[in-house]
Amino acid sequence: MEQTYIMIKPDGVQRGLIGEIVSRIEKRGLKVAAMRLGVMSAESAKEHYREHAERPFFASLIEYVTSGPSVSMVVEGKNAIAIMRAVNGATNPVNAAPGTIRGDFAIETGRNVVHASDSPESAKREISIHFKGSEIVSYSKID
Ligand code: CMP
Repeated sequence: MEQTYIMIKPDGVQRGLIGEIVSRIEKRGLKVAAMRLGVMSAESAKEHYREHAERPFFASLIEYVTSGPSVSMVVEGKNAIAIMRAVNGATNPVNAAPGTIRGDFAIETGRNVVHASDSPESAKREISIHFKGSEIVSYSKID
């Protein structure tokens, strides 16, 4: 059983895609174990994206993810990290296959609708930035 951190970014929320995205996650067989809508603080956003701190797009990335409400989730299930990367599609929507969230709903990297943790280490770190342990409710069946 694995947990991953998912964000529906402000463009996804603004475009009314919350239900569509949550539906895709649940239909795939993963479970939402925590969920919150709110405007991410600059402090949390900078901590979340700290590996990109030296990149030229860092300031605009922080501005983008704090520009309006986003949805933070912990998504749980077998191979949840790899599955959610596949459900989201390539970071640059130009390379995202049709049928993925980015392949169906995005056209540029700077407005790519969703985020998913890229490794077990990132998942653990990102979940701890955005959620307290008591906010995560694990109800997956163990096979
Ligand atoms: P995400 O999957 O959240 O992880 C890092 C984010 O940085 C990425 O999605 C994009 O939103 C953003 N990003 C990565 N590369 C670029 C880029 N070249 N220009 C603008 N934003 C980028």
